Amino acid sequence: MDIVCTPEEQKLLTQIGSAAQKLNVPCYLIGGFVRDKIIGRNTKDADIVCVGDGIALAHEVAALFQPKLKVNFFKNFGTAQIKLSNGFEVEFVGARKESYREHSRKPEVEIGTLQDDQNRRDFTINAMAISLNKDDFGKLVDPFNGLHDLEHKILRTPLDPDITFSDDPLRMMRGIRFATQLDFHLFPETFEAIKRNKHRLKIVSQERITDELNKIMNAPIPSIGFDLLFRTELLQEFFPALADLAGTEMIEGKGHKDNFYHTLQVLDNVAARSNDLWLRWAALLHDIGKPATKRFEPGTGWTFHGHDSVGERMTIKLFRQLRLPQNEKMKYVAKLVLLHLRPISLSKEDITDSAMRRLLFDAGDDIDDLMVLCESDITSKNKQKVKRFLANFEIVKERLKEVEEKDKIRNWQPPIDGAEIMEIFNLTPSREVGVIKTAVREAILDGHIANSYDAAYTFMLEKAAELGLKPAEGQKSKVKSQNPDTTDDGQLTTDN
Ligand code: CTP
Repeated sequence: MDIVCTPEEQKLLTQIGSAAQKLNVPCYLIGGFVRDKIIGRNTKDADIVCVGDGIALAHEVAALFQPKLKVNFFKNFGTAQIKLSNGFEVEFVGARKESYREHSRKPEVEIGTLQDDQNRRDFTINAMAISLNKDDFGKLVDPFNGLHDLEHKILRTPLDPDITFSDDPLRMMRGIRFATQLDFHLFPETFEAIKRNKHRLKIVSQERITDELNKIMNAPIPSIGFDLLFRTELLQEFFPALADLAGTEMIEGKGHKDNFYHTLQVLDNVAARSNDLWLRWAALLHDIGKPATKRFEPGTGWTFHGHDSVGERMTIKLFRQLRLPQNEKMKYVAKLVLLHLRPISLSKEDITDSAMRRLLFDAGDDIDDLMVLCESDITSKNKQKVKRFLANFEIVKERLKEVEEKDKIRNWQPPIDGAEIMEIFNLTPSREVGVIKTAVREAILDGHIANSYDAAYTFMLEKAAELGLKPAEGQKSKVKSQNPDTTDDGQLTTDN
């Protein structure tokens, strides 16, 4: 079998072959390396299976390097791993009769032949082996015709799919992930078996499921995977809130679009514009609040009022359930979900500078990502409509740029913050503090008062008085005469 290897890879494979010969164990390249080399995909690791002791072989190979490479091994599982100085990883395993699974907790190693080992792998395209033995170096050992499946872009299991999937139900997700990454098709029997075995996914840890999900998200056209997840009903098992977006309903002759397929379109649109995994998550979740807010209003039609804020809350919950990071990534996605309607609404009305400023303030540094999401959200079968919306959207983008250049709102903070309000009025954290703080900020954003400390201070006193509050003793003298951040006249640009 001719596969194209770099000179370093060639050297390494020959070294592994001679080490195996020394130990008198037949050994083979297997799995993703073989598959990816045949189709010309990048490889960053290689799996070696030997008919014998994989750990001993790893030590023998490691000793060929200067200095000797470190071997990480797991005695119970009979696996070992070495890492080359260029980052390339090689994993060694002894051929076994039982199923190969990552992270399997069962130390089940009954020694088998190469064919036994190939039988228990996940897909025919991952079960091909290439000999590294002296007498037939480079020979392809392909008992399930994986090469045929690779050429025809087919994902099919080596054994009865019910057996292969019950060995490790995560393989159902892996199959859909490979279909998405490689743009392959699930063989009809494999597809049906996933549908039949979908409930078995319950025994797989959420971390492993989400790992696969993120690989689908990172693929060039992620919708391929989500469509398969939905049609095999795996999605309904671990992510029902997303599946709930599917379907349309008709009342009084009025329908609404299928929000699941709309979401997939938005996700692909974002994926075509950005490789950022979290921006892609924002696309996936932007309408997640729609099923919970859907109403039919006679005379008006279908509405989804508040789906943005409901979606924000659901995002936080889903990140926890799906074991996604509980950090600023989650906050970023939740924020984009909350704000996803704002830019579009600006293209529908007469755009005021203050509305622009408010959006710039709320989005902060995420404004560019928000604009990518919103632009991607413009989907319609009517090409003219899309063209018109996109043209309006360009105007919003231009105006945002102008306002930002003039007012620098993106990272702006009002001259008086909550801590100072509490100090001045001797308050503990409370509703009043929020009311005053928001009023000051809004007055500046609206251009009603100057963007200066003194103007904000005076306005704050008025607002506080309305709430029956007076500055605490000794606080009155704190008025600063000049705020160093204030521009010439301190006033933000006035609205048109
Ligand atoms: N494998 C399997 N069942 C699993 C996981 C892995 O049969 N649940 C086998 C397959 O033969 C696979 C090989 O182990 O090719 C290596 O697994 P892994 O490194 O996870 O996947 P790759 O196929 O190398 O692909 P990728 O690196 O893209 O995940």
